[in-house]
Amino acid sequence: MSKVITSVNQLDFSLSDLEDMPAPGKVLLVKPTYFSVEYVINPHMEGNIGDVDKLQAQNEWEHLKSAYEELGLYVHVQEGKRGYPDMVFCANQSLPNITKEGKKEVIMGVMHSDQRKGEVPYIQEVYEKSSYDIVHLDKDRFSDFEGMGDALWHFEKRLIWGGYGYRSSKEVYDVISDTFDTPVIALELIDERFYHLDTCLCILDSETALIYPKAFTDEGLELIRTIFKNVIEASKYEAEKLFACNATCPDGKNVFIQQGCVDVNHKLKDAGFKVHEFSTYEFLKSGGSVFCMKMLLW
Ligand code: ARG
Repeated sequence: MSKVITSVNQLDFSLSDLEDMPAPGKVLLVKPTYFSVEYVINPHMEGNIGDVDKLQAQNEWEHLKSAYEELGLYVHVQEGKRGYPDMVFCANQSLPNITKEGKKEVIMGVMHSDQRKGEVPYIQEVYEKSSYDIVHLDKDRFSDFEGMGDALWHFEKRLIWGGYGYRSSKEVYDVISDTFDTPVIALELIDERFYHLDTCLCILDSETALIYPKAFTDEGLELIRTIFKNVIEASKYEAEKLFACNATCPDGKNVFIQQGCVDVNHKLKDAGFKVHEFSTYEFLKSGGSVFCMKMLLW
């Protein structure tokens, strides 16, 4: 039975009631060979067409790749595809799951913009090779769902946070909740500069989140503050210009984040996290940073 929660009065569980999930041990990266800004589908891309320094983008990506390896994750590299300059943002085309029984399954996304729709089959190949069961949404019913850009697993808990409003439809979360037998807390996004949930909510560990509050409604904020004991807030500058909330914390301890988020980094260190800064300036030109340049897998 699906369970989609949109306000605190619908919350009938606390974190300790939720089932545990194993931490993912693999990370998927897509080579930035064909990465560039060729069209404008989010406000950050405006004025940046043709502006990507390819060599610099390659360097930035290589640094991230090495860091995942150093963290002990198995890195799976997929080739990019000519004609799909945004495929490097491989958080967006799918949402994987591992069941209680250890079965791996994935819901493939339906990209909101025509320019990105063709990326999905190439990402699906990765799951086919890794023996995931593949689920497709009914494209006649759902016009968009951008995978882990909008649907974020709670840290090691069977709970999904689902953003909607720009790239994913709210209705899709019923199917996701049903398919994965998992409650979904659905959050409306209200600022187009924070068009994916992963631009304004970063789940650091089971009790801690990093957020940009103004991207959410009051109801959404109340849900976040009810579930997370510690909520770290990013300033407008760090959230919007440096994508601070598009950080990732694969192990609940080490945070990978765009360089220069001075205020957020202080707060992260005070909260006991180890901060690793990366330059993702070339990818910021396209409206993405660390979190959406990868997909964590089991
Ligand atoms: N240019 C890409 C787009 O607009 C960037 C995607 C970044 N992904 C993310 N989850 N924030 O689709």
